[in-house]
Amino acid sequence: MIDRTLGDLHVFETPEEVAAGVADAFVADAERAVQDRGAFFVALAGGSTPKAAYALLAQTPRDQRVDWRHVHVYFGDERCVAPDSAESNYNMAREALLSRVPVPEENVHRMRGEDDPEQAARAYASQLVQAMGDTPVFDLIMLGMGTDAHTASLFPGSDPQTDEDRLVRAVYVEKLSAHRITLTPRVLNNARHVLVATEGLPKAPALYAVRCGPYDPVERPIQVLAPRSGTLSWYVDRKAAAELPSK
Ligand code: 6PG
Repeated sequence: MIDRTLGDLHVFETPEEVAAGVADAFVADAERAVQDRGAFFVALAGGSTPKAAYALLAQTPRDQRVDWRHVHVYFGDERCVAPDSAESNYNMAREALLSRVPVPEENVHRMRGEDDPEQAARAYASQLVQAMGDTPVFDLIMLGMGTDAHTASLFPGSDPQTDEDRLVRAVYVEKLSAHRITLTPRVLNNARHVLVATEGLPKAPALYAVRCGPYDPVERPIQVLAPRSGTLSWYVDRKAAAELPSK
């Protein structure tokens, strides 16, 4: 069955407003999770929009509203590079956010991009199971979207739902000639909240195709997002939304 979930679309005027919206959503989800369950499990994304949101989260007043002792940080995907590489999603998140807030070091779980990709994917899956059980439920998974409609490291050209018994997958991305590690749709769609943030005119054709074009997750992997019982939100700027019908 084709599960076509478009989710809630929030269109902001500027990229700065998108970043502020993402940071506010993080704070609200963290407050709710800590209040209801005593812990907040979040998966961070790489990319430019999340980076701006992380910088805002590290600043007062937002940093004061998060009970960082109870925040457990994971990653949606990682490039297969060393953790201090400028390419590393972990490195970016560390510089913009994690080194600036009192999140306990043992609560930060990075994907080991420097290891053999298959081995790193298996090790990360074990960590997820250990922390959250066989069916991990994140409170928030932050994602971006590429101009080719990839999300996390689910790239066009193969079915994103392959190996669905796996929680984490190693992939080789032909056009980047690079290995990546990524959460699978099984984990993404189990989250309480999946938040996709994207901005800028170059993303407009993909956003239109994803929301208004035919369902084809091999070509547009982000279409696979359809949280089973959680919420899917899209935070985009006016430019990314340029090709969407106004009503
Ligand atoms: C990564 C990401 C990736 C990203 C998109 C969009 O590791 O690169 O996790 O999926 O979110 O490529 O990136 P931008 O927001 O920078 O365009």
